[in-house]
Amino acid sequence: MSRTQVAIIGAGPAGLMLAHLLQRAGIESVIVESRARDYVESRVRAGVLEYDTAELLNDLGVGERMRRESLVHRGIALRFNDRSNRIDFPDLTGGKTVTVYGQQEVVKDLIAARLATGAPILFECAATAIDAGDEPSITYRDAAGGEHTLDADFIAGCDGFHGAAREAIPPDAITVYDHTLPFAWLGILAETPPVSEELIYVNHERGFALVSMRSRTISRLYIQCRNDERLELWPDERIWGELRERLGSDRGGPDVHSGKILQKGVTPMRSFVCDPMRYGRLFLAGDSAHIVPPTGAKGMNLAIADVRVLAEALEAYYEHGETALLDAYSQTCLRRVWKTQRFSIYMTRMLHRFEEHTPFDRRIQLAELDYVTSSRTAAASLAENYVGLPFESTAGLRKVRT
Ligand code: PHB
Repeated sequence: MSRTQVAIIGAGPAGLMLAHLLQRAGIESVIVESRARDYVESRVRAGVLEYDTAELLNDLGVGERMRRESLVHRGIALRFNDRSNRIDFPDLTGGKTVTVYGQQEVVKDLIAARLATGAPILFECAATAIDAGDEPSITYRDAAGGEHTLDADFIAGCDGFHGAAREAIPPDAITVYDHTLPFAWLGILAETPPVSEELIYVNHERGFALVSMRSRTISRLYIQCRNDERLELWPDERIWGELRERLGSDRGGPDVHSGKILQKGVTPMRSFVCDPMRYGRLFLAGDSAHIVPPTGAKGMNLAIADVRVLAEALEAYYEHGETALLDAYSQTCLRRVWKTQRFSIYMTRMLHRFEEHTPFDRRIQLAELDYVTSSRTAAASLAENYVGLPFESTAGLRKVRT
């Protein structure tokens, strides 16, 4: 039997970042992760960091490799009617940018920095029981099949959408909002230089496409596909052909050069919110509490915003015995969650092909794109959301209460 202050389930961006924030505040934690280190470090996910997410990594002293290897982007293009239209972030947001750096790179950096301090991450340890009552504990099984119990003051459920944490909450204690979109993304990671300096979001009759990147030699490319898409129907040549078609490569658009495909997969599109994000002494953060569709690359950023709120609340508790911030946790997070949900749905609806669209709906969609790329006011709203809404610190609430 062992004990810590905060037991964290999951070594993804939320769990790892929480552990670092707590450590900075002198609060002890143990991370329990069901997968092996190698697995969590190689999961390919999105790769755009909001301005404040990148700043936070720097503030925590874990941004050194990011500063060296990432690409700072000052805009994106929205492409429709075979024309690219640029949205300039610094100009529209008072100087903000985004940072292109793969989620798994963030995860690698956070793991390395934590292990370097000697703080624990228990890999290949799967939580089998979670007690969120007055004496919280988690039971987990290690790789050799041994069962252990970890007692804690609080439990942070950072174990993703399919994790054990949300499952531990009685269904009648939460309201779940679930919205599935009628398509998915077929994504590839390929050894080919980015077709453009910046990301291009494409609205095309045949469906959405996105050209993104991980470095100056590796591209990350997506095309809208069916929800139940079968990968075997997509040999490499078909993917490259479809990308060229949607990008308008033969009609003056950017040309993609086919390279070796390193990874191929289907990303489902879904919105999901669990309300509240707390049950007793169990706090959910990141994908365990909410999923956003990937258009806009908000998933990891939202997870990190959650744990910033949670870390502030736990700090107030350990410093002053103050529980107001913990009590406000769910409400504070959900305000940002819903605004981010709104933005991700807005981007998704504006850019994808919907089977049920009438010619009228299609005209409205094109008018939306025309508006957002020709009105400075509309473009500023998109840019503000894309670089990340301001983080609303709850420290003010603490001052009022103490
Ligand atoms: C990515 O590079 O994986 C990516 C970028 C932007 C998005 C989604 C995914 O909106």
